[in-house]
Amino acid sequence: MKTIIEPFRVFAVYPIRMTSREDRERAIRDAGYNVFRIAARDVIVDLLTDSGTGAMSSEQWAAVMRGDESYAGSESFTRFEAAVRDIYGFRHVIPTHQGRAAERILFQTVCRPGDLVPNNTHFDTTRANVEHAGAEAIDLPPIESRELGVPRPFKGNMDVDALEALLEERRGHVPLVMLTVTNNSGGGQPVSMANIRSVSNICREHGIPLYIDACRFAENAWFIRNHEEGFAQKPYIDIAREMFSYADGCTMSAKKDGLANIGGFLATNDGRLARQELDLLILTEGFPTYGGMAGRDLEAIAVGLYEVLEPDYLEYRMASTRYLGRHIADHGVPIVEPPGGHAIYIDAAAFCPQIPPRELPGISLTVELYREAGIRGVEIGTVMFGSEEPGRPSTAPHELVRLALPRRTYTQSHVDYVVEAILAVFARREEMRGYRIVEAPKTLRHFTARFESL
Ligand code: F0G
Repeated sequence: MKTIIEPFRVFAVYPIRMTSREDRERAIRDAGYNVFRIAARDVIVDLLTDSGTGAMSSEQWAAVMRGDESYAGSESFTRFEAAVRDIYGFRHVIPTHQGRAAERILFQTVCRPGDLVPNNTHFDTTRANVEHAGAEAIDLPPIESRELGVPRPFKGNMDVDALEALLEERRGHVPLVMLTVTNNSGGGQPVSMANIRSVSNICREHGIPLYIDACRFAENAWFIRNHEEGFAQKPYIDIAREMFSYADGCTMSAKKDGLANIGGFLATNDGRLARQELDLLILTEGFPTYGGMAGRDLEAIAVGLYEVLEPDYLEYRMASTRYLGRHIADHGVPIVEPPGGHAIYIDAAAFCPQIPPRELPGISLTVELYREAGIRGVEIGTVMFGSEEPGRPSTAPHELVRLALPRRTYTQSHVDYVVEAILAVFARREEMRGYRIVEAPKTLRHFTARFESL
């Protein structure tokens, strides 16, 4: 059969409230034109994030009932730790309430003021946590990733020449190197096994640990198996194990490829470091056998980490992202090519070229998608990465709008609805206008800023 179907039946449903154009006009105005400020009940198809928004399976819900809520020595932690060790292979597993808590503990432990942390591309919370620890976050994407519309495999790679040069130049000031798989801020693009291996070799030559930001490790494994030579016959779990075998530790948000609604962990092979990290964990997250999670969350993740590696699941997952990407791109909508793992990224600067970056084309597009059909996407551009602070770039390198697909949540007809809405906005793109910020905090301003149309 050519048709790839959702490999599950529905077992509980959330109703979607259909809104009118007037309802949406009011909601977006009251939200200061920032879709983060809109109530979820006013959204029809929510593509704000794939983080914690997926549906759990019947097996995960069954596991939830097994949750051992003991403060110390919980059985659920034993199962969680066994799953993480089995798949990721790291010796020390430190549970946290989500990915950014793992980031905070890691960077606070290893970074000193004046240090720098290279990454293929930092996610926003990763960057903020590096900076919060007094270090500088450096992105090293490959040159080909600058050509957004040109499809090439593994555009999420790290530029290894740039990494080598940086490590030579800043010897003694790089406490760790990070690779984000898949590269979220870089268009959801994958990192090849060859690149992971090269980065790992360079790190080992310099005696610097390599960490993987593993949020979407299973999706990355799908790209390796299907697009990199030599992996076509390998089970996904073995590909994942090989990816992690080149690293010294990882941070993980289980809200993505843990198929859970909350949770995460930090893992490392370094026992001395793990002890320092556990001290911080106890201070703000919780006892080492639950971190910031309930026993039932640990159970859901222990099951989810295996389900996410099932071939039928990954085929469906990648087919749905590709479907959305192809159906808009083939009608001329400029997207980051090829389609990423968890999301489609529309190039807002090319979508509405009459709006310059400082007038926030990504915000304009998120507002129009919401107005048109109640679709919520997110700007990944100047509001997220630009800055008003002196010495920092005021605009971002790209003006993207991300449409992230929650896992196992929407069906093909929801995606068809999204396609229709995007094409309708595309047809009237010349009427779109820019925005300006009227109110914003200094860090992570995209969450709460308010805007005004120009
Ligand atoms: N790293 C990456 C690559 C991420 O995409 C995220 C979260 C995190 C770290 C932090 O994890 O949310 O559990 O604290 N990304 C979400 C997103 C929020 O929408 O892309 P967290």
